[in-house]
Amino acid sequence: MAATGSEQTGHGAYYVSTPIYYVNDAPHLGHAYTTVAGDVLTRWHRQRGEKVWYLTGTDEHGQKIMRTAEANGVSPREWCDKLVEESWKPLWEHLRIANDDFIRTTEKRHTDRVQEFVQDLYDRGEIYQGGYEGPYCVPCEEYKTYGELLDGEGEYAGQKLCPIHKKPVEMLQEENYFFKLSAYGEKLLEHYEAHPEFIQPESARNEVMQFVRQGLEDLSISRSTFDWGVKIPWDDKHVIYVWIDALLNYATAVGYGSDQRKFDETFPADVHLVGKDILRFHAVIWPAMLMANGLPLPKRVVANGWLMVGGEKMSKSNLTGISPHELTDHFGVDAYRWYFLRAIAFGQDGSFSWEDFSARYTSELANDYGNLASRVAAMVGKYFDGALPEATAHGEAEQTVADGLAKAVREADERIGEQLDFAGGIAAIFDFIKQVNGYLTEQAPWKVAKDTSAEAQERLATILYTAADSLRACAVLLNAVMPDSSAKLWETLGAEPALGPLAEQRIAEAGTWGKLPAGTTVTKGAALFPRLEETK
Ligand code: MSP
Repeated sequence: MAATGSEQTGHGAYYVSTPIYYVNDAPHLGHAYTTVAGDVLTRWHRQRGEKVWYLTGTDEHGQKIMRTAEANGVSPREWCDKLVEESWKPLWEHLRIANDDFIRTTEKRHTDRVQEFVQDLYDRGEIYQGGYEGPYCVPCEEYKTYGELLDGEGEYAGQKLCPIHKKPVEMLQEENYFFKLSAYGEKLLEHYEAHPEFIQPESARNEVMQFVRQGLEDLSISRSTFDWGVKIPWDDKHVIYVWIDALLNYATAVGYGSDQRKFDETFPADVHLVGKDILRFHAVIWPAMLMANGLPLPKRVVANGWLMVGGEKMSKSNLTGISPHELTDHFGVDAYRWYFLRAIAFGQDGSFSWEDFSARYTSELANDYGNLASRVAAMVGKYFDGALPEATAHGEAEQTVADGLAKAVREADERIGEQLDFAGGIAAIFDFIKQVNGYLTEQAPWKVAKDTSAEAQERLATILYTAADSLRACAVLLNAVMPDSSAKLWETLGAEPALGPLAEQRIAEAGTWGKLPAGTTVTKGAALFPRLEETK
């Protein structure tokens, strides 16, 4: 975790969150997918020169965690501590996730504030005592409606199953506390109408609106049959429902009730990234809780699709043994970060395949991008002793490349920075890389080099400068997605002494032609994306 807290004070941070993940097991590809997307988004905004706050963390209460810990013969606290320290945080570091904070729902800074929030709702008359009976899915930590349940087959014949987990639900009957969610249906619908961007993508917005139009029921917000949770402040026989506890992390982590200044400059979130399975919690329950408490609503809730394996949502039980580490060992961390965002339209489901990953790696990363960088560095070395020459013969062909770059920057900024269309933004950058490769093939600098006339040498210098300045822009534009290879390229181009650190290069200026000054020392380092070993 690259905590950059001290730089982040001031007004109006761009605040992005991931879901806080259940720590019943180690993180898998699906969790990493959302977290990498948030990291790319926040790094992009940092390179726009904005203040950013990127939050992730872990959801540690509830029956699901309690049962897993019991099954492993340890206390829930021990279980969570071990997994967070040995699996979750190390994976995020490994994947270069630059979150500003990591919140755990068992931390006192969170639990105290959760109690205050719920007490406040109680004092406002938003909570009452009642009874409930219904089918409950522990993996979802959610009461289900009878209508959505599936009929079990085979080992589950005669039982009703959760539509997401395909596991039997449990019948629960309890006396507990209820939040008057039903009172917020109209207000929520008004909000969705007035802010069409509030829920994205469009399909997710439609689904939520349809759900809310059917009428909302009050929400059970406490449980009394187990005690692994935050106690209801006025009745300690109950613990607060894990989802209410969890959603509040977005407020408690940024100073709710403890650091008003920080809270005012950060809250509410600009983007809550969520998997589509937990959209309703974020787009219905969370805004209703905020309305009830008089707090502002997030600007956007953006749902990503599922990574699928064999037609099913990828989960702990059907991972077919692939861990993020296995992929990064083979493809490298940068390629890993790039692949899922490049190959799957954000918001839609996508299947992972080793073959597709290999094919894209080889054609786009190793051949198109990596080769371009090494060829250009090699030629500047060979023909100009590694000193970047000046472009004195900038002509029509060069202008076309410069125009292509300006277009790529505009498109990537709009798609990645605004629309969260990572695949589209990355494609715009890689189209530009293809264009530069095409330019080199046409200009054939290796042929021009054979002509020793002054005119030919000027052409050669211009061609290589054009390619090198294009690479300068690629390093800037791809830094959010692939920070390690971008840093290597920055080094290869000798850019830092002239332009400063890569992370400080602004997106808005990436398309300004000719930023890399002539005379920088270009060196041929190791391949950015080495050929893959044929192990699979
Ligand atoms: N703890 C709750 C979230 C509370 S947020 C206030 C939870 N946790 S979870 O561990 O089940 O992870 C949920 C999130 O992980 C999903 O919403 C999604 O963002 C990500 N993913 C988990 N599996 C996934 C896939 N197979 N594909 C894509 N994302 C997935 O729900």
